[in-house]
Amino acid sequence: MLREEFPRLRLAHLPTPLEEMPNLTQRLKGPRLLIKRDDQTGLATGGNKARKLEYLMADALAQGADTIVTLGAAQSNHARQTAAAAARLGLKALLLLRGEEPPLRNGNLLLDDLLGAEVRWMGPQRRIPPERIAGILEELKQAGQRPYLVPYGGSNEVGVLGYIQAMRELLDQLEESGLVADHLVVATSSGGTQVGLVLGAKIYGYEGKIIGISVDLPREELWNNLVSLAQATAARWGFDLSLGRDDFIVYDDYLGGGYGVLGPPEKEAINLLAQTEGILLDPVYTGRAMAGLIDLIRRGTFRSNEVVIFWHTGGTPALFAYAQELFKAPRTEP
Ligand SMILES: Cc1ncc(COP(=O)(O)O)c(C=O)c1O
Repeated sequence: MLREEFPRLRLAHLPTPLEEMPNLTQRLKGPRLLIKRDDQTGLATGGNKARKLEYLMADALAQGADTIVTLGAAQSNHARQTAAAAARLGLKALLLLRGEEPPLRNGNLLLDDLLGAEVRWMGPQRRIPPERIAGILEELKQAGQRPYLVPYGGSNEVGVLGYIQAMRELLDQLEESGLVADHLVVATSSGGTQVGLVLGAKIYGYEGKIIGISVDLPREELWNNLVSLAQATAARWGFDLSLGRDDFIVYDDYLGGGYGVLGPPEKEAINLLAQTEGILLDPVYTGRAMAGLIDLIRRGTFRSNEVVIFWHTGGTPALFAYAQELFKAPRTEP
């Protein structure tokens, strides 16, 4: 059981709604499609990181931190939500972002700025070398600050607790509405969301499938990350669970042009959901995961009487950074 005494702050708007998507269901000719609205968690426009940050920020405060340091892509939703959480708690936020300072700060970057975060541009490498991060933390300490490092995507043993709790929340909602979910579909990258859901499923007895649509990593690499994060989390909190690759369903068929590259499948998914259900996806994560779900439906992966829940993980501010590519996209006929 997820013990109540795990230190947690209340930062997110929970429970998030679980909604039917009747128009999309009809358009795609089944299965019955629902959506779990973690784009509505709050913290400067919502997203999956709010759940992880409830536990990470509690840990940061317990350690006496006054500065939260985290890492990500230029349009990192995780960095933006971390900046919002830090602002709410009266802490400084330092965001170490990939790339060079762009001429226009829009999307998540605009919000980072409004939220008062300091941004440092770290160059093109996908992962900042650990010694460089250690150097920055040391520099802050020398300047008298007390930094707390939140890893990429908030995905460590502490952040995962947010999605173990999220599985409990979903199961309560399903029970209340008398529904049984056969499949959950979720975008996966640094892995904390999927690992939390899978651990939560084992702890609380969800028997359906949890399908991770990889956004950036090939299956082998993602599998290794998922299994080691799951094992580390179970060990840290004393969950008596054995975890291996078989516990994680991962599709890496939808990587398209790579991380953050918007292709026709993502555009179709974003337009389709917006124009059938009035729900906004994001260009990097949920647009790709929904494109994957649409493809799986078209291939006949699900039976028409099954219930499939798409777990919306947020990210909508990044839409504005992709305005050039998304504007005047083809209309979906009503
Ligand atoms: C909108 C959105 N969806 C999904 C993910 C992936 O979640 P995770 O990193 O826990 O795998 C992220 C991560 O940054 C995200 O910003």
